[in-house]
Amino acid sequence: MNTPPIIGPAALPALAELLREAPPSRLFVLADTNTARDCYPPLRAQLPPHELLTIAAGEEHKTLATCTDVWAWLTVHHADRHALLVCLGGGVVTDLGGFCAATYKRGLRCVGVPTTLLAQVDAAVGGKTGVDFQGFKNHIGVFQEPEAVFMDPAFLATLPAGELRSGYAEVIKHALIADTAAFAELRGLRVSDVSDWTPIIRHSVAIKEAIVAQDPHESGPRKLLNFGHTIGHALESYLLAQPGRVVRHGEAVAAGLVAESWLSAERGLLTADELAQVRGVVNASFEPLRFAENEIAEIAAYALHDKKNRGDSIKCTLLQGIGHGIFDQAVTIAEISDALRAYAA
Ligand code: GLY
Repeated sequence: MNTPPIIGPAALPALAELLREAPPSRLFVLADTNTARDCYPPLRAQLPPHELLTIAAGEEHKTLATCTDVWAWLTVHHADRHALLVCLGGGVVTDLGGFCAATYKRGLRCVGVPTTLLAQVDAAVGGKTGVDFQGFKNHIGVFQEPEAVFMDPAFLATLPAGELRSGYAEVIKHALIADTAAFAELRGLRVSDVSDWTPIIRHSVAIKEAIVAQDPHESGPRKLLNFGHTIGHALESYLLAQPGRVVRHGEAVAAGLVAESWLSAERGLLTADELAQVRGVVNASFEPLRFAENEIAEIAAYALHDKKNRGDSIKCTLLQGIGHGIFDQAVTIAEISDALRAYAA
C-alpha cells in the first residue's frame, strides 16, 4: 500500500480526493448484494461516473468462476491498466477484487473500501488477495497491496452482531500477539457495548501493519498473525463440513485463541492467570463452540492441512506472555486434541 489506511468519517471524502488528484482512465466499483444495498449509496454520492458490478454475497462465491465474471465485465467496458477498481465489501469482495485487479492485464489500479470489521482490521490490510479452490480456502492468490484503503466505521452499523464478533476475534488476536496494553484495554469490553469502533480499528490496523511491514510475504514474523488459526481453522473446516452446523470464521478463531493459549500455558509460556484473562476477554463476547469428545480426533486432523505447515509437522503460533507471540512452534496432533479437550471442558 502506498499510504496508510484512512480510517474514520473522512475515509470516503479521501477516496474522492484521490480520484480528483490522480484520475483513472475509467472507474469501476465491485460490490456484493449486501454492500450494493447498504454501503453503495453513500459511496456513489462521492464518486464520479463509474460502472458497478454486483456479485452474489457469500464465501461460496469466492471462486474463479466469479473472477471470470469480473474480468469479462472489465473487458466489455474497455478497462485498461490505468483504470481503477474500487472493492466495496467484506473479505470476499476485497480478496477476490484485489486478485482480479492484480491479474487483469497484469494489474490495474485498485483501492479497498472494506465494510465489515473483519475486513477492516484484517482482510483488507496486508495485500493478501485470492479465491477459494476445490474446497481449499484462499488456495489461489497473490500478494498485491492496493493503492489505498478507505475504512468508514459507519458501515458497521448495518452488520449483524455475529459479523461484528467475527472481526472482533482478530482484534483480540492482534493485541495478544503484539500489544500487552491493547489487550488490557479489551478486558471488560463486550462487542455489544462498543459504540465507536474507530479507535479500536485504528489500533488493531496499526498492529497488523507493523507486522506486515517486517515480513510482507510471510516468511517469518507475519506468521504471528496465525495465532488462534491453527485450531480455529480446524474447527471451522470440521464444523462447516457437518450438515446443519454453522460457524463464523471469528467464532472459530475465538475458540482457537483460547485453545492455543491453553497450549502456551501447558508449555509454561503463559501463566494460569494470563490464560484466565484470555478466556475472560473471549467469553465476554463469544458463546463457546460445542463439539463432542468423539469428534476431537477428526477436528485435530484438519490442523494437518494448514497452509503454514511444512511437511507433516504442524507449525503453530503460541504466546510467550500476553502481547508476545512466537511463531513456528511445532505441535503434535495429540497436543491439539488435548487443547480442544481443555477448551470444551
Ligand atoms: N490474515 C493473516 C494475514 O494477513 O497474514
